[in-house]
Amino acid sequence: MKVVISGKGGSGKSTISSLLAKELSRRGYRVLVIDTDESNFGLHNQLGLTKPLELMDHLGGKKMMGKKMMESMSTGAKFTLIDEKWTIADIPDECLSRKGDIWLMQIGKVRHFSEGCACPMGSLAREFLEKLTVNDDEIVIVDTEAGIEHMGRGVEKGCDLVLMVVDPSNESIRLSEKIGVIMEEAGKPVHIVLSKIDDRTEPLLRDKIRLPVVASVPFDLKIFSSGLMGDELTCSSSGVMELATFVEEMR
Ligand SMILES: Nc1ncnc2c1ncn2[C@@H]1O[C@H](COP(=O)(O)OP(=O)(O)OP(=O)(O)O)[C@@H](O)[C@H]1O
Ligand SMILES: [Mg+2]
Repeated sequence: MKVVISGKGGSGKSTISSLLAKELSRRGYRVLVIDTDESNFGLHNQLGLTKPLELMDHLGGKKMMGKKMMESMSTGAKFTLIDEKWTIADIPDECLSRKGDIWLMQIGKVRHFSEGCACPMGSLAREFLEKLTVNDDEIVIVDTEAGIEHMGRGVEKGCDLVLMVVDPSNESIRLSEKIGVIMEEAGKPVHIVLSKIDDRTEPLLRDKIRLPVVASVPFDLKIFSSGLMGDELTCSSSGVMELATFVEEMR
């Protein structure tokens, strides 16, 4: 099972990825969290893990990947960045950070002024997810960057389920309509997780959103403070349990 967590910037994607990973590991699954967001740097903190080596660096770095992409474009040769078929056990140790049954890997981050676009990261994420096979007791959670660029790149191709995180904002409501259309094209099921809601905003969102809502995570001061301090997320909520049960049932 490979689950993509998508949504608007700041809606709570990384928070929900981390809380879901923790809840699923508590239920006995090995959970691999894949950080495909090239712009954010705090997911490992939320999970209480150290930062692993980025897969892109392990494979030779962004420059080398960009060169490979350009070469294949000019020669028309089949473009591959990584070897066929991977299992979680094949992921090099230096690219993994672990605590119990939660494992974290990162695809690659933007680090320098004028270093160029993030295409190599997007291509690597798409290819890696397509070639990664998982066992029944393993769940992969893919934390994405804000918006829909990853969908334009086809990162969801190798995944089974898309969860869109919706916070109480008009932009999130609009984005849910767009994501519904794009994922229908891709033939991937998409479900909604409401985030940072309260008694007043939840019914409003439920009324506006056309896609199926499978869980609601309320605004929680403990989550907010951990986020502000960059601390590990240790709290959970009934919404996260509801979400974990949904993911289990979709397996
Ligand atoms: N349920 C919640 N209750 C209170 N605060 C929350 C909740 N969920 C997320 N937050 C806070 O909202 C902010 C954004 O959360 P998060 O980083 O998870 O969003 P994101 O969608 O991953 O953002 P980005 O698009 O930048 O990757 C953080 O400060 C986080 O602590
Ligand atoms: Mg994030």
